[in-house]
Amino acid sequence: MKEGGVVLLTGGTGFLGRNLIPRLLEKKSKIYVLSRSDNPSCLSSFLKDDRIFLVRGDVERDSIFYKDSDMGDIVNNVSQVIHTVASTSFFEREREKTFSLNVGGTYNMLEFSKKCKNLDSFVYVSTAYVENRRQGEEVSEDLQLVSHKNLSAGNPYEESKIAAEFPVRNSKLPWSIVRPAIFSGDSETGFTGYDYRTGQGVLLGLLYSIFGKNHDKFWKHREKLKDTSFFEYLEAPCRLKGYNTVTKNFMFIDDIAGQINAIVNSQNIVKKIHHVVTKNPITISQMINSIQKALRIRGVRFDGDFDVKSSNKEERKALKLIDAPYSSYFTRWEPHWRTDNTDRCLQEQGYERKDMTPEKFDWLMEQYVNNELKTVLKNFGKK
Ligand SMILES: NC(=O)c1ccc[n+]([C@@H]2O[C@H](COP(=O)([O-])OP(=O)(O)OC[C@H]3O[C@@H](n4cnc5c(N)ncnc54)[C@H](OP(=O)(O)O)[C@@H]3O)[C@@H](O)[C@H]2O)c1
Repeated sequence: MKEGGVVLLTGGTGFLGRNLIPRLLEKKSKIYVLSRSDNPSCLSSFLKDDRIFLVRGDVERDSIFYKDSDMGDIVNNVSQVIHTVASTSFFEREREKTFSLNVGGTYNMLEFSKKCKNLDSFVYVSTAYVENRRQGEEVSEDLQLVSHKNLSAGNPYEESKIAAEFPVRNSKLPWSIVRPAIFSGDSETGFTGYDYRTGQGVLLGLLYSIFGKNHDKFWKHREKLKDTSFFEYLEAPCRLKGYNTVTKNFMFIDDIAGQINAIVNSQNIVKKIHHVVTKNPITISQMINSIQKALRIRGVRFDGDFDVKSSNKEERKALKLIDAPYSSYFTRWEPHWRTDNTDRCLQEQGYERKDMTPEKFDWLMEQYVNNELKTVLKNFGKK
């Protein structure tokens, strides 16, 4: 990819897209941002930059763009497509929508990109968890993903992301795949942009499962606490099914965007997969402790032998809310993702990773509960 190129970015209003745009501006000369809305408020500050062009469209439409003239400009000018649009819903009830957007939308973007006259690369944002079934194994960045049939994907989202990689990899376009791990807040501010679809969204499930209708009581309790002395914590005895030593690959969103920016600006990314992961994933027991500290509760723990027959009311609620779509995340050991291709790009572009630690995760959760959780809860279910 030549520096200073012209980019078409899909999903610019999403959590990743919003964080990617300012970084892309470091080297790209022009960015077309595809949006379904004609005035996305989350992009208002970027739209003042005369290198950003909002183009309206919907990747689920065969013809994608609402205006033919936009399509004509893009076909003639764009040298790189970065396709980030996806539904990140893990729910079985949304399977059809998830597949239509994640697989159908990617297919439409591939078909459209064939028309672009000067395309250097089509970068598809996948997920590191397409390889989630390979528990504890080392997963290289070669093309090992063999077939999406009979793979034990943890949920329809993972399944759809596996299924979408195949048309990308089988296309004759100069494709490149980026597979990031789990997005969490910004490393400086902790901010997620009031997004409940982040890794921190796990909090929501916990909050609902443990406190149910007692949200007011919970908030009063939390706000009453001036310090964080442990004995004052609210007792919330509740076991969740999961193995304490299972790790989760949480990353700062600015680090994900920084690494992806380095990849898309690098030479020799075509027909290559790039894992964007942290070298220091945290265990789910560290994760649950951070969440409990931030909520000022204690008593929630993972138990690998947890059996629903011996469960209490809260545990059954938790099982229903969290375990159904997320259980594979707590009961499967993650693969060890190799990062040789990504390392080369980061080195070429002089980018340094911002690795996660349990202490930083504590801080992220504290920021999230203090500054964003109430707004997220208020908006929950409205999207
Ligand atoms: N979140 C994670 O932890 C995570 C981890 C690994 C990989 N990923 C991958 O990273 C990518 C970005 O994820 P994200 O969390 O940033 O997603 P997100 O915040 O949910 O954003 C999704 C984006 O897709 C757009 N979109 C939805 N339907 C569309 C359509 N029919 N046509 C055009 N645009 C449409 C949304 O636009 P509107 O504003 O119009 O809704 C939004 O900009 C995805 O490919 C995801 O699979 C995410």
